[in-house]
Amino acid sequence: MGKTSIAKMLARKLNGVYLNLTELVLNKKLYVDYDPERESYIIDEEKVRKEILKISIKHQDKYVIIDSHYGELTPREVLYKIFVIRCNPLTLAQRLKERGWKELKIRENVQAEILGICTANAIEEHGEDLVYEIDVTNKSVNEVVNEILRLMSEEPKCRKFIDWLSIIPLEKLSTYLT
Ligand SMILES: Nc1ncnc2c1ncn2[C@@H]1O[C@H](COP(=O)(O)OP(=O)(O)OP(=O)(O)O)[C@@H](O)[C@H]1O
Ligand SMILES: [Mg+2]
Repeated sequence: MGKTSIAKMLARKLNGVYLNLTELVLNKKLYVDYDPERESYIIDEEKVRKEILKISIKHQDKYVIIDSHYGELTPREVLYKIFVIRCNPLTLAQRLKERGWKELKIRENVQAEILGICTANAIEEHGEDLVYEIDVTNKSVNEVVNEILRLMSEEPKCRKFIDWLSIIPLEKLSTYLT
Protein backbone atom coordinates (compact mmCIF):
# COMPACT_ATOMS: atom_id res chain seq x y z
CA MET A 1 0.00 0.00 0.00
CA GLY A 2 1.46 3.31 -1.04
CA LYS A 3 4.11 1.84 -3.33
CA THR A 4 3.37 4.14 -6.24
CA SER A 5 3.13 7.35 -4.19
CA ILE A 6 6.32 6.48 -2.31
CA ALA A 7 8.32 5.35 -5.34
CA LYS A 8 7.37 8.45 -7.35
CA MET A 9 8.35 10.84 -4.58
CA LEU A 10 11.58 8.94 -3.94
CA ALA A 11 12.47 9.10 -7.64
CA ARG A 12 11.84 12.84 -7.64
CA LYS A 13 14.00 13.45 -4.57
CA LEU A 14 16.85 11.33 -5.93
CA ASN A 15 16.54 12.76 -9.42
CA GLY A 16 16.10 9.15 -10.47
CA VAL A 17 13.92 7.22 -12.88
CA TYR A 18 10.52 5.86 -11.79
CA LEU A 19 9.61 2.47 -13.21
CA ASN A 20 6.19 0.88 -12.72
CA LEU A 21 6.63 -2.86 -13.18
CA THR A 22 2.92 -3.57 -13.74
CA GLU A 23 2.81 -1.06 -16.60
CA LEU A 24 6.03 -2.47 -18.03
CA VAL A 25 4.62 -6.01 -17.98
CA LEU A 26 1.44 -4.90 -19.75
CA ASN A 27 3.10 -2.59 -22.29
CA LYS A 28 5.76 -5.09 -23.29
CA LYS A 29 3.53 -8.15 -22.85
CA LEU A 30 5.90 -9.78 -20.37
CA TYR A 31 3.30 -12.29 -19.20
CA VAL A 32 2.58 -15.90 -19.98
CA ASP A 33 -1.09 -16.04 -19.10
CA TYR A 34 -4.04 -14.30 -17.47
CA ASP A 35 -5.74 -15.72 -14.40
CA PRO A 36 -9.38 -14.56 -14.56
CA GLU A 37 -10.19 -15.80 -11.07
CA ARG A 38 -7.41 -13.76 -9.48
CA GLU A 39 -7.82 -11.00 -12.07
CA SER A 40 -4.11 -10.82 -12.61
CA TYR A 41 -1.47 -11.65 -15.18
CA ILE A 42 1.02 -14.42 -14.63
CA ILE A 43 4.30 -12.79 -15.45
CA ASP A 44 7.14 -14.21 -17.48
CA GLU A 45 9.85 -13.86 -14.84
CA GLU A 46 12.78 -14.36 -17.17
CA LYS A 47 11.56 -11.69 -19.59
CA VAL A 48 10.90 -9.29 -16.72
CA ARG A 49 14.44 -9.80 -15.36
CA LYS A 50 15.94 -9.11 -18.79
CA GLU A 51 13.87 -5.97 -19.26
CA ILE A 52 14.83 -4.60 -15.82
CA LEU A 53 18.47 -5.26 -16.64
CA LYS A 54 18.15 -3.44 -19.96
CA ILE A 55 16.47 -0.39 -18.43
CA SER A 56 18.97 -0.24 -15.54
CA ILE A 57 21.91 -0.33 -17.93
CA LYS A 58 20.33 2.39 -20.04
CA HIS A 59 20.12 4.62 -16.93
CA GLN A 60 23.40 3.55 -15.39
CA ASP A 61 24.16 6.99 -13.97
CA LYS A 62 20.83 7.23 -12.12
CA TYR A 63 18.82 5.40 -9.52
CA VAL A 64 16.01 3.44 -11.12
CA ILE A 65 13.21 3.13 -8.54
CA ILE A 66 11.12 0.08 -9.32
CA ASP A 67 7.52 0.13 -8.10
CA SER A 68 6.64 -3.55 -7.70
CA HIS A 69 5.56 -6.45 -5.50
CA TYR A 70 8.40 -8.48 -6.91
CA GLY A 71 11.65 -7.19 -5.44
CA GLU A 72 13.18 -10.59 -6.05
CA LEU A 73 13.05 -10.18 -9.83
CA THR A 74 15.63 -7.40 -10.00
CA PRO A 75 18.91 -8.98 -11.14
CA ARG A 76 21.69 -8.81 -8.53
CA GLU A 77 24.09 -6.98 -10.89
CA VAL A 78 21.88 -3.89 -10.90
CA LEU A 79 20.25 -4.23 -7.47
CA TYR A 80 21.02 -1.57 -4.86
CA LYS A 81 18.47 -2.22 -2.11
CA ILE A 82 14.96 -3.58 -1.72
CA PHE A 83 12.61 -1.60 0.49
CA VAL A 84 9.54 -3.60 1.42
CA ILE A 85 6.57 -1.45 2.39
CA ARG A 86 4.75 -3.10 5.30
CA CYS A 87 1.37 -2.06 6.63
CA ASN A 88 -0.68 -3.29 9.59
CA PRO A 89 -2.91 -5.96 7.96
CA LEU A 90 -6.06 -4.66 9.68
CA THR A 91 -5.39 -1.13 8.39
CA LEU A 92 -4.63 -2.58 4.97
CA ALA A 93 -7.91 -4.55 4.95
CA GLN A 94 -9.84 -1.40 5.84
CA ARG A 95 -8.17 0.66 3.10
CA LEU A 96 -8.71 -1.98 0.43
CA LYS A 97 -12.36 -2.25 1.45
CA GLU A 98 -12.71 1.52 1.08
CA ARG A 99 -11.14 1.26 -2.36
CA GLY A 100 -13.89 -1.19 -3.34
CA TRP A 101 -11.68 -4.26 -3.79
CA LYS A 102 -13.35 -7.65 -4.04
CA GLU A 103 -13.40 -9.90 -0.95
CA LEU A 104 -11.09 -12.51 -2.51
CA LYS A 105 -8.46 -9.94 -3.52
CA ILE A 106 -8.59 -8.33 -0.09
CA ARG A 107 -8.08 -11.69 1.63
CA GLU A 108 -5.21 -12.57 -0.69
CA ASN A 109 -3.44 -9.27 -0.07
CA VAL A 110 -4.04 -9.25 3.68
CA GLN A 111 -2.82 -12.85 3.98
CA ALA A 112 0.33 -11.99 2.05
CA GLU A 113 0.91 -9.03 4.38
CA ILE A 114 0.37 -11.12 7.53
CA LEU A 115 2.87 -13.68 6.29
CA GLY A 116 5.35 -11.15 4.91
CA ILE A 117 5.47 -12.84 1.52
CA CYS A 118 7.22 -10.00 -0.35
CA THR A 119 9.98 -9.87 2.25
CA ALA A 120 10.37 -13.65 2.30
CA ASN A 121 10.70 -13.82 -1.50
CA ALA A 122 13.18 -10.93 -1.57
CA ILE A 123 15.33 -12.49 1.16
CA GLU A 124 15.18 -15.93 -0.42
CA GLU A 125 16.53 -14.53 -3.68
CA HIS A 126 18.93 -11.83 -2.51
CA GLY A 127 19.70 -12.43 1.18
CA GLU A 128 18.85 -10.36 4.26
CA ASP A 129 21.50 -7.71 3.79
CA LEU A 130 19.83 -6.06 0.80
CA VAL A 131 16.29 -6.15 2.15
CA TYR A 132 14.86 -3.39 4.37
CA GLU A 133 11.35 -3.23 5.75
CA ILE A 134 9.46 -0.07 6.52
CA ASP A 135 6.24 0.01 8.53
CA VAL A 136 4.20 2.70 6.78
CA THR A 137 1.09 2.36 8.98
CA ASN A 138 -0.09 5.86 9.90
CA LYS A 139 2.88 7.55 8.25
CA SER A 140 2.73 10.14 5.49
CA VAL A 141 4.36 9.44 2.13
CA ASN A 142 6.91 12.16 2.90
CA GLU A 143 7.86 10.54 6.22
CA VAL A 144 8.33 7.17 4.53
CA VAL A 145 10.46 8.64 1.75
CA ASN A 146 12.68 10.39 4.30
CA GLU A 147 13.08 7.11 6.16
CA ILE A 148 14.19 5.42 2.94
CA LEU A 149 16.66 8.22 2.20
CA ARG A 150 18.06 7.80 5.71
CA LEU A 151 18.45 4.05 5.22
CA MET A 152 20.26 4.76 1.94
CA SER A 153 22.77 7.08 3.54
CA GLU A 154 23.49 5.21 6.74
CA GLU A 155 23.22 1.59 7.71
CA PRO A 156 20.80 1.18 10.64
CA LYS A 157 22.36 -0.06 13.88
CA CYS A 158 19.87 -2.87 14.21
CA ARG A 159 17.87 -4.56 11.50
CA LYS A 160 14.56 -6.13 12.29
CA PHE A 161 11.83 -7.73 10.27
CA ILE A 162 8.17 -7.25 11.06
CA ASP A 163 6.08 -10.14 12.36
CA TRP A 164 2.43 -9.10 12.61
CA LEU A 165 1.55 -12.39 14.26
CA SER A 166 3.63 -11.42 17.28
CA ILE A 167 2.18 -7.89 17.40
CA ILE A 168 -1.54 -8.31 16.71
CA PRO A 169 -3.77 -10.69 18.72
CA LEU A 170 -4.45 -13.80 16.68
CA GLU A 171 -8.23 -13.54 17.06
CA LYS A 172 -8.16 -10.26 15.12
CA LEU A 173 -6.29 -11.86 12.24
CA SER A 174 -7.94 -15.26 12.21
CA THR A 175 -10.81 -14.27 9.91
CA TYR A 176 -8.20 -13.67 7.19
CA LEU A 177 -6.31 -16.87 7.87
CA THR A 178 -9.09 -19.45 7.65
N1 LIG B 1 0.51 6.22 4.19
C1 LIG B 1 -0.72 6.35 3.68
N2 LIG B 1 -1.76 6.66 4.46
C2 LIG B 1 -2.99 6.78 3.96
N3 LIG B 1 -3.30 6.63 2.66
C3 LIG B 1 -2.31 6.32 1.84
C4 LIG B 1 -0.96 6.16 2.29
N4 LIG B 1 -0.19 5.84 1.24
C5 LIG B 1 -1.01 5.79 0.19
N5 LIG B 1 -2.27 6.10 0.54
C6 LIG B 1 -3.43 6.14 -0.37
O1 LIG B 1 -3.68 4.83 -0.78
C7 LIG B 1 -4.01 4.77 -2.16
C8 LIG B 1 -3.05 3.85 -2.85
O2 LIG B 1 -1.75 4.41 -2.87
P1 LIG B 1 -0.71 3.98 -3.98
O3 LIG B 1 -1.32 4.02 -5.32
O4 LIG B 1 0.52 4.80 -3.77
O5 LIG B 1 -0.47 2.48 -3.51
P2 LIG B 1 0.03 1.24 -4.36
O6 LIG B 1 0.72 0.34 -3.39
O7 LIG B 1 0.83 1.71 -5.51
O8 LIG B 1 -1.33 0.59 -4.82
P3 LIG B 1 -1.56 -0.48 -6.00
O9 LIG B 1 -1.30 -1.83 -5.38
O10 LIG B 1 -3.00 -0.26 -6.36
O11 LIG B 1 -0.61 -0.14 -7.10
C9 LIG B 1 -3.95 6.20 -2.66
O12 LIG B 1 -5.26 6.71 -2.67
C10 LIG B 1 -3.10 6.90 -1.63
O13 LIG B 1 -3.44 8.27 -1.55
MG1 LIG C 1 0.64 1.28 -7.52
